[in-house]
Amino acid sequence: MISERLNQALNDQIKHELESYYLYLSMAAYFHTSNLDGMGRWMRGQAHEEMVHAMKFLDHLLDRGAKVQLPDLKQHKTEWNSPLEAWQDAYKHEQFITSKINELMDIAREEKDYQVQPLLTWFIEEQIEEEATSGKIAEEMAMVSDTKHGLFFMDRELGQRAFPTGSPLDPEAYSSSS
Ligand code: FEO
Repeated sequence: MISERLNQALNDQIKHELESYYLYLSMAAYFHTSNLDGMGRWMRGQAHEEMVHAMKFLDHLLDRGAKVQLPDLKQHKTEWNSPLEAWQDAYKHEQFITSKINELMDIAREEKDYQVQPLLTWFIEEQIEEEATSGKIAEEMAMVSDTKHGLFFMDRELGQRAFPTGSPLDPEAYSSSS
């Protein structure tokens, strides 16, 4: 049986993943309204990925007959002074999420909960990729984004992000034309 402490921490993590979804959706809207549709597309896909992360935790709680009690979402930033600032925020946010996943693993070990540890190991590996990707884009943006050409290039480049067709990660699946 799952401990009260771990149960609460997993509910909190669903909130963090949904806040990531909401933050990245705000960033996507910011990019689209700044005529950076490639970055908007990338961020929309990322938002969907965060929703999938939230569902993984939700399903784990349901599979174990644990309590699902979702806290209120925190209001995150909705405007940025520049595309670079938004990407830097995305990187900082992923570092924050990594710290929360690490805390969850600490709790799971302290509570001797072996069943949740494979899921948390998946997330620990996922966070390596999440930080590496957002950190690299933030660095590249810092190199080029003070030039219009650089920004244009980055927007084209990021717009190439591939999502499996028909998957919830495919932003086209949600576009008004489909
Ligand atoms: Fe669910 Fe980007 O961490």
